[in-house]
Amino acid sequence: MKNKILVTGGAGYIGSHTCIALHQAGYEIVVYDNLSNSSREAINRVSHLIGAPIEFIKGDIRDAKALRQVFDAHQFFGVIHFAGLKAVGESVAKPLLYYNNNVSGTITLLEVMTEYDVKNLVFSSSATVYGDPETLPIDETAPRSCTNPYGQSKLTVEHILEDLAVSDTSWSLISLRYFNPVGAHPSGQIGEDPNDIPNNLMPYISQVAVGKLEKLSIFGNDYPTVDGTGVRDFIHVTDLAQGHVSALNYLDKQLSLNEGDTTQQNSVGFLPINLGTGKGTSVLELVSAFSEVSRQAIPYQFTGRRAGDIASCYASVSSAKDLLGWEAKLSITDMCQDTWRWQIANPNGYN
Ligand code: NAD
Ligand code: WQD
Repeated sequence: MKNKILVTGGAGYIGSHTCIALHQAGYEIVVYDNLSNSSREAINRVSHLIGAPIEFIKGDIRDAKALRQVFDAHQFFGVIHFAGLKAVGESVAKPLLYYNNNVSGTITLLEVMTEYDVKNLVFSSSATVYGDPETLPIDETAPRSCTNPYGQSKLTVEHILEDLAVSDTSWSLISLRYFNPVGAHPSGQIGEDPNDIPNNLMPYISQVAVGKLEKLSIFGNDYPTVDGTGVRDFIHVTDLAQGHVSALNYLDKQLSLNEGDTTQQNSVGFLPINLGTGKGTSVLELVSAFSEVSRQAIPYQFTGRRAGDIASCYASVSSAKDLLGWEAKLSITDMCQDTWRWQIANPNGYN
């Protein structure tokens, strides 16, 4: 079936928002997730929001037998592959876990896809593959390097996808490099639900605003940026979700070109695309926007730089625009408003 998509990691933060966008765009979805960093409740809420049941299978991408059962039961057009572990600090402490889950897991998934001749994949990559960028905005041809096992696992998967595309030209492998996803569904029903104390800036700010955490530590105020704090390209998760729909639509369109002509190869090979807004926002600018939206004071202190952090990072978005016809629409204010709505409605996340 041309519109049936397997969504690995679909119960997670970005996956759950993308499930809604996919359903709204007319795709039929099957979610496969081991719930190692997510909750079944997210799927229940997605189902409630779209007003339709969602086929959910609890399973691990490293389990080829379980994956085969899914591919036996469904004929997929392609796979959107979110499943992975994403905490940079944890990856330094547990590198084998990260390589096993993110790299071996992806290899197992690709092997099963090969067996079933499903050769369309949209992969969750990250701006982290650019390391410390030499020039800004960062375009897809920029050199890649990573300093931690999490980033290295994403970069390794990209290399595997590139090699796979060379070995067999019938693959279409789109690697979406997300910049800094934030925000939540405008309903306030689904959002980011970090375990323990958040590592990332936006969930930390919102937990300070709601009173769960006392104050934000700002890691460094001596960067060569507008106000000395780090600059990032924050992108609303619903814009990001729409980017996945655009990637699938693009694949569908490319693969349909010259349909029936066996002399033509329409697959896209390995195609990396940045998903960001193209605009940089500093840590202090985000704190101030969130404070304004939530009408809460957000106490903070400056501490030393966090190891591995870079000064500035924002995307060149022309590939996404030119190839996918996709652009981020939502503002920093929207990102803060939707995060805040989710935070106050769900002070303890999905629990
Ligand atoms: P998330 O942790 O909320 O979602 C990942 C999902 O994958 C979770 O539901 C988890 O249970 C599932 N999962 C993990 N390992 C699995 C396995 N072995 N088998 C089956 N399911 C498994 O994270 P997210 O923020 O939604 O990120 C989704 C993807 O995007 C990840 O691959 C992440 O590395 C990547 N990414 C995230 C960000 C970000 O800042 N959130 C930025 C760039 C890239
Ligand atoms: C943003 C800015 C911090 C927390 C990470 C991953 C990256 C990608 C996205 C998955 C930086 C500052 C943060 C805090 C702070 N994930 N900060 N106090 O580091 O850009 O990217 O998430 O692929 O791989 O590395 O995001 O939200 O952690 O930090 O001052 O408590 O906020 O120093 O300047 P980052 P972040």
